[in-house]
Amino acid sequence: MIHSLRPHIVLALLLCVLCIDICVADATSAAAVIEPSLYSPEDNVQILNNDTLEEHLYNSSTCNFVQFINYFCGDCRRYAHTFKQIAWRLYDWRRLLTVSVVDCAQERNVQICRDYNIRQTPTLRLFPPHFQRNEQQIGFDVDPHEPAAIYTKLAEYMAQIKYTPELPNFEPITAEDNQLTLQKSVDYCNTISYIVLVYQPVGTTIGRDLILDLLRWPIVAVRQLDDQLLFTNFGLEPSNKLALIDCGGNALALQPAADSTEAYVASVTKYLQTVGHMAEPQLVTTPAPNVTKFSLDGEQAAIISTVLHGQPKVYRADLEQAIDKLLHIELPKVQVFKGENMLALQQLLKVLRLFNPLNASGKQLINRLSDFVNSIDASGELSGVAFQMQVENHERKLPKVFKSKRYVGCIASGPFLRGFTCSLWTLFHYLTVESAKSTDLPPGAVLATIHGFAKHFFGCGDCVQHFMGMAERRKLFEVKNADEQILWLWEAHNEVNERIAGDSTEDPKFPKLQYPSQELCEKCHNPTWNRKEVLAFLKCVYDKKNLSSYGLPTANGYD
Ligand SMILES: Cc1cc2nc3c(=O)[nH]c(=O)nc-3n(C[C@H](O)[C@H](O)[C@H](O)COP(=O)(O)OP(=O)(O)OC[C@H]3O[C@@H](n4cnc5c(N)ncnc54)[C@H](O)[C@@H]3O)c2cc1C
Ligand SMILES: *[C@@H]1O[C@H](CO)[C@@H](O)[C@H](O)[C@H]1NC(C)=O
Ligand SMILES: *[C@@H]1O[C@H](CO)[C@@H](O)[C@H](O)[C@H]1NC(C)=O
Ligand SMILES: *[C@@H]1O[C@H](CO)[C@@H](O)[C@H](O)[C@H]1NC(C)=O
Ligand SMILES: *[C@@H]1O[C@H](CO)[C@@H](O)[C@H](O)[C@H]1NC(C)=O
Ligand SMILES: *[C@@H]1O[C@H](CO)[C@@H](O)[C@H](O)[C@H]1NC(C)=O
Repeated sequence: MIHSLRPHIVLALLLCVLCIDICVADATSAAAVIEPSLYSPEDNVQILNNDTLEEHLYNSSTCNFVQFINYFCGDCRRYAHTFKQIAWRLYDWRRLLTVSVVDCAQERNVQICRDYNIRQTPTLRLFPPHFQRNEQQIGFDVDPHEPAAIYTKLAEYMAQIKYTPELPNFEPITAEDNQLTLQKSVDYCNTISYIVLVYQPVGTTIGRDLILDLLRWPIVAVRQLDDQLLFTNFGLEPSNKLALIDCGGNALALQPAADSTEAYVASVTKYLQTVGHMAEPQLVTTPAPNVTKFSLDGEQAAIISTVLHGQPKVYRADLEQAIDKLLHIELPKVQVFKGENMLALQQLLKVLRLFNPLNASGKQLINRLSDFVNSIDASGELSGVAFQMQVENHERKLPKVFKSKRYVGCIASGPFLRGFTCSLWTLFHYLTVESAKSTDLPPGAVLATIHGFAKHFFGCGDCVQHFMGMAERRKLFEVKNADEQILWLWEAHNEVNERIAGDSTEDPKFPKLQYPSQELCEKCHNPTWNRKEVLAFLKCVYDKKNLSSYGLPTANGYD
């Protein structure tokens, strides 16, 4: 038991061992809870949450590009490197666009992620200046995730917006425009020292792209001409394509080397540098660390050591965490339960109720929630808000149910690893094993419940996609035998393990092996899988009677 060890000794001993590869904090700060983040402001990514997102969006005169993530989603983690490159590049556009991130796996962000209907992550959303949310307006999804396609989408979007006068103007000039009208439209000869005129032939984006690429020059206002003849309004030849008017009112034709954005940018830049100006610097600082602020405290270090060196065990703490996060985060994020996802919710609570690993008050909580959702008839509906309130109301009336608030068997040795998804697998295996002991549910019902959860509630996009693929390929709905149900999930899980073994989401201390390893179960390997032995092994490890209370906050764990 952790609580029986003297924390200071554990801390001192374990920090020495573990600091070598993981720990970044010293003993004094180890106890402080610091939220790690995949991003940092040095990457040009602001980290927003329920308190700051809407204030940021509503009060902003620029466009806003927001990535919604779930820290536990492998794809979000894998995408972080690409997104940082995008954010660095977008630093050049910061006068018109901010870049931020919101983590929907944080309990505090449940409401905003529901309000913005974030179903799968990563989700990329774009918001106009002074955005106001309402039922119709929750921003625009940017579907492609590749940088080049994103820049194009952002440019298209940003160019249709009319900004306040101190910001760029994407509207082409009109036949009535001349030096005087353009000078009046900007803060001429104060902030703006040059007006650049660019001809954008129909079907091209050269003018738009020039505006964006010259955002690093706040002294320059670029205006587009969709008719070359309009150059004559400024005393220039109609054959021009690019020109510049300085503060003295002199109009000067520029001769770019080619008809490309790069050549136009080069031409304007060269002129400005010749007369002694400099662009604002780009974001070329050394990249911020991929993950900031992570430290293991002494207890976590002790847990890792115990989990790694003990017998294979299933820990109640993990089952509790899985159910805790389901009830408080994944389920209440749903906007509305009705039809298919209502059935999925009812079924999930029914299964949790039957094989509930929680203690007495946890049993009451699930019973009441199950009674409540199962009392809604098939055509009825329930909002995520109402579900969340049910959970909160019942919890208020019961002795504290969720106490551990930490993972044990699913503990990670680094940030953004293991945790919730690991606890879900653990819970699912546990449920298949428990259901084999009872006749309360038809065989196959637990797999169907897991399928319903994945399809409707699991916020990890790639996990869902793969699981749906496996369900079809491995014929999940044809499993009609309790033992086969246990083995189906075991094989499916091993398929996932094989696919993601060795990638950046793997915890080096918990490598993804085909389970159970030779070491854990020799008889299971003969030399290929001996399914009978595997079944016996799983039935033993995941058995309710064998659950370990290690790491729970009270001396006896649960009653
Ligand atoms: C339904 C589902 C689908 C997922 N799909 C993806 C995906 O497509 N891409 C992705 O990157 N991540 C996916 N994940 C997350 C991923 O599988 C892991 O949960 C995550 O990487 C954390 O891994 P882990 O090392 O903690 O071990 P996990 O794979 O989470 O396993 C948890 C524990 O279960 C035990 N175990 C391992 N294998 C088996 C087995 N075959 N049978 C019984 N017990 C076993 C071990 O004790 C292990 O520590 C998915 C998760 C779930 C729940
Ligand atoms: C809104 O923006 C203005 C100008 O950018 C700033 O002065 C003000 O403090 C902001 N208000 C809030 C609530 O953030
Ligand atoms: C954000 O969440 C925290 C924690 O749940 C809460 O205290 C705070 O009031 C919330 N803020 C808003 C604006 O909802
Ligand atoms: C961040 O991660 C990427 C890819 O995983 C890697 O190439 C890069 O070197 C890392 N950067 C830092 C600063 O660790
Ligand atoms: C619990 O585990 C032990 C060994 O780890 C095993 O002998 C025993 O049969 C298990 N109990 C159940 C009920 O499966
Ligand atoms: C289990 O439930 C009882 C009440 O039924 C409660 O007093 C006790 O603290 C709970 N134990 C844990 C570990 O949650």
